[in-house]
Amino acid sequence: MTALSLTVNGDQVSVEVEPRTLLVELLREHLGLTGTHVGCDTSQCGACVVHVDGRSIKSCTMLAVEAEGAQVTTIEGVGARGSLHPVQEAFHETHGLQCGYCTPGMIMSAIDLLKQNPDPNEHEIRDWLEGNICRCTGYHNIVKAVQHAGATMRASVQEVK
Ligand code: FES
Ligand code: FES
Repeated sequence: MTALSLTVNGDQVSVEVEPRTLLVELLREHLGLTGTHVGCDTSQCGACVVHVDGRSIKSCTMLAVEAEGAQVTTIEGVGARGSLHPVQEAFHETHGLQCGYCTPGMIMSAIDLLKQNPDPNEHEIRDWLEGNICRCTGYHNIVKAVQHAGATMRASVQEVK
């Protein structure tokens, strides 16, 4: 077993894991953060996307020990009941989900996109979300959700100015 310390959703976490433990397994099985989903065993679906040091990554492609000292954020860390993140709010408002299985990964990916590109066009959104598979929605409302969230977030930045 290997000792591991990292920050998850703002909380300091110290655990012992087997060296082969994946980050997604640490989150779901050791820490009970089951909002991060597993939808494949080929690193293709994106249901497992979380942020590590602010960047979106597929947590099934990273060993937990590689996250030593990192700041990890999961879907549980981006909003709360009654105060959703603007991207969560936008998925809700534009019906950007059906079964919801892909949604945590979609939202974590979309948040990273909007951080890097606050006003992405449809092509840029589809391109960015290529690594996130949705079996239900046909993607149309997901694109609308990201555009809607981008507009809301740009407006709130303007208000602060
Ligand atoms: Fe499918 Fe990670 S579980 S990409
Ligand atoms: Fe069902 Fe995307 S909403 S997989």
